Amino acid sequence: MRPKVYVTRLIPEEPLKKLQQNCDCRIWDGELPVPRDVLLREVQTADGLVSLLTDRIDATVMDAAPKLRVISNMAVGFDNVDIKEATKRRIVVCNTPEVLTETTADLAFALMSAAARRIGEGERIVRSGKWKTWGPMILLGQDIHHAMLGIIGLGRIGTEIAKRALGFDMKVIYCDRDRRPEMEKKLGIEYADLKTLLARSDFVTIHTPLTSETHHMIGEEQFKAMKKTAILVNTARGPIVDPKALYNALRDRLIAYAALDVTEPEPIPPDDPLLTLDNIVIVPHIGSASVATRTKMAMMAVDNLLAGLKGERPHHVVNPEVLAK
Ligand code: GLV
Repeated sequence: MRPKVYVTRLIPEEPLKKLQQNCDCRIWDGELPVPRDVLLREVQTADGLVSLLTDRIDATVMDAAPKLRVISNMAVGFDNVDIKEATKRRIVVCNTPEVLTETTADLAFALMSAAARRIGEGERIVRSGKWKTWGPMILLGQDIHHAMLGIIGLGRIGTEIAKRALGFDMKVIYCDRDRRPEMEKKLGIEYADLKTLLARSDFVTIHTPLTSETHHMIGEEQFKAMKKTAILVNTARGPIVDPKALYNALRDRLIAYAALDVTEPEPIPPDDPLLTLDNIVIVPHIGSASVATRTKMAMMAVDNLLAGLKGERPHHVVNPEVLAK
């Protein structure tokens, strides 16, 4: 019998076709995330689930899904899935690393440039008709070249950021739970503890997963430790930065600017105080949003799911202990 699969949003055509050729699929095709009651109803008969970072897959969902064997999250981050609960129930959880690394690093660099050169502000001035003439003192920003970049988390994406930064003649320091001597040598970058990194960096970019340890790891104390001219970039997960502390830091000019692809909450409400500030640029969680990368992510999510449903080992499992005999 073909396995039953629920997909929580429309995904690119080719991976969807592959899924449909192999499984009985039901799909939430709304523009917004699947409503909780629909999800709870649809998983009742599902053997597999393709989920997104906008879906909270917790014990309640798993309890509603007695047949569920594989949760394939179409994202590299999996903080939306309760891994402990899944492991307890021997449900395999998969993610989509690697395929989005460079695309996300490209966006982090774009955000860094947008903040440094005040691109959002410039665009608003042009569109509002307020731009009167070229001026020697208008919209002066900061240089990226030869500046110091601090990377928090030298994983796959952090490493790609370092490579891009070196092309811009930046100096690069990083902090991580694990020191990476081979990368330090290969790229000519330096390790620093978080406090030192914050104090020395002109740009700070975040590339850690969201866990209980990284939740609000950048807050009031960390902003105080940063340079007044510093620019903070977050393309990882919103809750790594304390949003109230960020607002205060930008308002009081403890730091110069922030550039966010991710926020807490997400989406950021239109009346959020951060949106009243000029020294911030915010985009709607588009780190991996290129045509090619989203197709690869969806294909990887489908391949992971199909392998898991066949009882094979998917390429990217986040709780491999479930597969151990
Ligand atoms: C996007 O944020 C992802 O985790 O893939």
